[in-house]
Amino acid sequence: MMSRTIVITGGAGFIGSHVVRLFVNKYPNYKIINLDKLTYAGNLANLRDVEKAPNYKFAKIDICDFDSVYDLICREHVDGIIHLAAESHVDRSIKDPFTFARTNVLGTLSMLQAAKLYWESLPEKYEGKRFYHISTDEVYGALELTDPEGVEPPFTTRASSGTHHLAYGHDFFYETTKYNPHSPYSASKASSDHFVRAFHDTYGMPTIVTNCSNNYGPYQFPEKLIPLFINNIKHRKPLPVYGKGENVRDWLYVEDHARAIDLIFHNGKVADTYNIGGFNEWKNIDIIKVVIATVDRLLGRKEGEDLNLITFVTDRAGHDMRYAIDSTKLQKELGWEPSLQFEEGIEKTVRWYLDNQQWLDNVTSGDYQQYYEKMYSGR
Ligand code: NAD
Ligand code: DAU
Repeated sequence: MMSRTIVITGGAGFIGSHVVRLFVNKYPNYKIINLDKLTYAGNLANLRDVEKAPNYKFAKIDICDFDSVYDLICREHVDGIIHLAAESHVDRSIKDPFTFARTNVLGTLSMLQAAKLYWESLPEKYEGKRFYHISTDEVYGALELTDPEGVEPPFTTRASSGTHHLAYGHDFFYETTKYNPHSPYSASKASSDHFVRAFHDTYGMPTIVTNCSNNYGPYQFPEKLIPLFINNIKHRKPLPVYGKGENVRDWLYVEDHARAIDLIFHNGKVADTYNIGGFNEWKNIDIIKVVIATVDRLLGRKEGEDLNLITFVTDRAGHDMRYAIDSTKLQKELGWEPSLQFEEGIEKTVRWYLDNQQWLDNVTSGDYQQYYEKMYSGR
């Protein structure tokens, strides 16, 4: 197998840690460099099982620090970049949009420019190189909830692949859907996507962009819906449901996203875009009830005992109603499919958080940051 040196940015975060783990284990000939600033969302404890692997290396770098990024890329002769580092939480972006513009827009630009300068300095230039940018379905905006012919949603509909599944509307996000971001987070991701495509169109950089739906699974920071609610249910704390809980999200198990990233990094078409999603739409309130039932069952509590923790609170500003990805292109062109049924994935996820209370406690108390702060200070 060919040897490669790949930088994975944001590898200490939720999705990034799954991508790092997959690449380190699957490609012993590759050198995998996890480039991460370790913000509040970065936690090296997510990678304990691979941190001593001979093909793994960690570099504590801010993607906005162009000199350090450029230096690393040159020194390590990097030929592939999988760029996940970002500020990722919509609620934080509403409070602090500047940080999102800095990291997601300027940070992505800094990664692109550093890769461009290094790769253009080589005799072979862009040959064998790849800049793969991980983005979100939120850049497409929001879809309507519709009720065709009086049928109460979710109703069975057909994807362009021909497969049938349950949906809350007729429309889907396609690779061709016009960008229409609403939150500072999605606006910053949309802007970064445009920069990535501009580097292909202007300089010929071999880029790829993918837009994925909501991920769930182990190691997700407990500010996001599913891990926050699992933790709260366990500790019998209120579950703050925004608005009426009617918003719809399309959920994908994180390891299925990581598998798609692997496939697209190696086989995706340069300059192309792929949507990644599970054809798995859920209203927030329904998913919350499933999470409550699963936690209660696994903890041996009475069925439905914790439903009273549901607390309807003021809606998120500009809350997008429905996201729904059509991932037919990825399925048809590269043969990718989600491997887990949602019921299986959510059971696995709840079990993981209940079995890893120490991880959750360290994250919620902030202890993980002090530990690694000491370890990496002065490097
Ligand atoms: P996360 O918040 O869990 O992790 C982000 C990681 O990026 C952290 O390790 C953090 O330390 C690092 N980081 C942040 N700012 C940095 C900087 N300036 N320099 C270097 N590192 C920095 O995020 P996630 O949920 O794993 O999302 C990863 C990527 O996938 C993001 O680009 C996000 O937009 C995208 N995405 C996420 C989802 C989802 O459901 N979580 C869905 C689709 C796309
Ligand atoms: O669609 C992909 C996106 O999914 C990613 O790009 C983002 O990085 C990721 O954070 C996620 O965004 P969401 O805003 O959809 O995820 P979040 O977990 O914050 O919220 C999921 C839904 O649950 C959303 O409709 C808001 C609602 N919610 C969320 C929280 C945290 C609540 O009702 N209460 C809550 O406390």
